[in-house]
Amino acid sequence: MVQSLMQPATAHVQTATTNGEQLASIREVIAGGVSSSMRAHAIPVPLVVQRAEGDRIWDVEGRELIDLNMGYGPHLFGYADPELSAALARQLTEGAMTGLPHRVDQEAGELIARLVPSVEQVRFANSGTEAITSALRLARAATGRTEVLTFDGHYHGWSETVLRAGKANFHEPAPDSTAPQPGALGMIPEALAHTLQVPWNDLPALRAVFEAHGDQIAAVICEPVMANACVVPPAPGQFEELRALCDRWGAWLIFDEVITGFRLGRGGAQERYGVTPDLTVLSKVMGGGVPVAAFGGSRSAMAMLADHRAMHLGVYAGNHLSVRAVATMLGKIERSPEIYEQLEQHGAYLEQRLRAMFAEANRPALVSRVGSLLSVSLLHRPTDLSRGPRAAARAMDFSAHRALQIRAQQRGVYFHPSPIEPWFLSTAHSAEDLDHVVAVVRDALDSVPESR
Ligand SMILES: Cc1ncc(COP(=O)(O)O)c(C=O)c1O
Repeated sequence: MVQSLMQPATAHVQTATTNGEQLASIREVIAGGVSSSMRAHAIPVPLVVQRAEGDRIWDVEGRELIDLNMGYGPHLFGYADPELSAALARQLTEGAMTGLPHRVDQEAGELIARLVPSVEQVRFANSGTEAITSALRLARAATGRTEVLTFDGHYHGWSETVLRAGKANFHEPAPDSTAPQPGALGMIPEALAHTLQVPWNDLPALRAVFEAHGDQIAAVICEPVMANACVVPPAPGQFEELRALCDRWGAWLIFDEVITGFRLGRGGAQERYGVTPDLTVLSKVMGGGVPVAAFGGSRSAMAMLADHRAMHLGVYAGNHLSVRAVATMLGKIERSPEIYEQLEQHGAYLEQRLRAMFAEANRPALVSRVGSLLSVSLLHRPTDLSRGPRAAARAMDFSAHRALQIRAQQRGVYFHPSPIEPWFLSTAHSAEDLDHVVAVVRDALDSVPESR
């Protein structure tokens, strides 16, 4: 259908396109219909967004859905937060980027330093992947070592030394969980030659890898709450042990707080668990949906960047629009500490209602939560996380969970179809919305065949 250029913008909204037709047209020009391969499996049934506000998205057919994926986590105050939108609109009229220092750099940097306990100085980047790449490079430069220790199932972006195989088939036995394999075709075979891996919450394995390689380890990087393959909090004592091992062997401890930063509290997971990493990587909530990330630490940890011996680059790194987003989001967070209490209460409420609902329906499910971050997984057989996330994932019913997601989406609730992907709450999710979500999932469950 040819549209007149004179037509008002809203006419576009009224074109009679279905989600499926629109997605097919998108696929003609966007390879695979998505701009991140990770999203390829996120929509078993086509869903094309017209707009998003609060905790809702409206699709091109005009249907309204409650969203529990929330753009994979950035929108702590919901979509289209008026304060953020106004600040960004103003910044656009004042110049989105000049490649020169701007006053807003100070404002945003000071906010991060006030809110995140271990951080005195930062550098901005455009994505979690970029910030992690630079943080690892800095740790390797400062220690003069090459090995980096990671945890099985933790995701640190898609760059060459951290993209490991396994997320897509997390429920299948790992071939060798200590020797991670490249996670994508086209990576050089040796990409992970300097990347070690141990299971999460396995203290004997952690001690053993330090005994074997401690004097070569530049850094240990973790998601302080594992959130990319179920929500798995740290076992009691793990962080104390990890901090002590890093100190003893001279390795840097890097917290990837891309998800947990400003979500699990104003000071992120490090504040919640009382542990001090050497470097912290921040993104998602801090930008409220605008692409931005940062990595930072003490002045001494950042010294090689401050005096330009180490390198971190990027034309758009620290652009004024992104840094304005940070200053606005964190200013709002600093002014409203009470939101974390509300998020905690709503998270606990949803967790408890979902558990009761699955129990009443007599369907095994695993619901795991830290704050406003949940994972909800339909199971073949009852399990918990006590034997580790991989063992739990083997009990998950991936196809039934996907069928549940399809039926919930048809009934107006969107969450990720993979049972290992988290649900993200925002301050826009009201108790009534959560009741509605539980009712929809309950109704959808009835038409999902039980696994034998
Ligand atoms: C914990 C964690 N680290 C790093 C990344 C990579 O961030 P980005 O996709 O912005 O490169 C992600 C993305 O979801 C993440 O969840």
